[in-house]
Amino acid sequence: MKLLFIGDVVGSPGRSMIREYLPKLKRKYKPTVTIINGENAAGGKGITEKIYKGFLEQGAQAVTLGNHTWDNKDIFEFINDASLLVRPANYPSDTPGNEYIIVKVNNLEVGVINLMGRTFMPVNDCPFKKAEELIEKVRKTTPFIFVDFHAEATSEKQAMGWFLDGKVTAVAGTHTHVQTADNRILPQGTAYISDVGMTGPMDGILGMKRENIIKKFLTSLPARFEVDTGREQLNGILVEAHPETGKALKIKRIQISAEEPFFE
Ligand SMILES: [Fe+2]
Ligand SMILES: [Fe+2]
Repeated sequence: MKLLFIGDVVGSPGRSMIREYLPKLKRKYKPTVTIINGENAAGGKGITEKIYKGFLEQGAQAVTLGNHTWDNKDIFEFINDASLLVRPANYPSDTPGNEYIIVKVNNLEVGVINLMGRTFMPVNDCPFKKAEELIEKVRKTTPFIFVDFHAEATSEKQAMGWFLDGKVTAVAGTHTHVQTADNRILPQGTAYISDVGMTGPMDGILGMKRENIIKKFLTSLPARFEVDTGREQLNGILVEAHPETGKALKIKRIQISAEEPFFE
């Protein structure tokens, strides 16, 4: 069982990387299931129905979100009908959208959970307790569980990885947009990485135009965040799991950029 996960897709440069490379990645690695984090897919903030459906057409089986979930108002029009879209589960309980989803691929079922950290992030319910609650539910159906932990602090992400070790197939960090080199299999069989990295502009600041961000640091005045143009990158991970137990066997980082060209 192989799981491909692509980190935060930022704006149209990110979407064009998905269009170009997702088919190639799927040919090369033959993942059983493909998941995309789409929280920045619409102009850097949020996602639209058209983009969500585009990801599914291009070969994803699930789309996760994050702190930008509500930033494009289109979300309210389709989130309740989007059966393969999952929003952070630790939002207040009457929030619209799926707390978790179970993706069916051939005879296999994969649970997908999205959680948000609370350190240097908006305050929400406890992601650790929410994780425990949902995993208990999902494990009744399948041992294959993927967790996208959308968080700022590496310590909180590591804590989640260790907290869920042996209970899920993978805990993959998102949100900080820079891929970390700490991918590993934890002792009880959970694949872990602090951050998968982003997909989109390479030379901006976390995908946004540099000038505006630098000016913000220099002046503390409010700044417009605009998706950058220029060189592009794709970041992701490939997780291989035992076909019966769901325990992770391997986690490989994927980077495509001018520095890391893709070979089929
Ligand atoms: Fe993001
Ligand atoms: Fe984020």
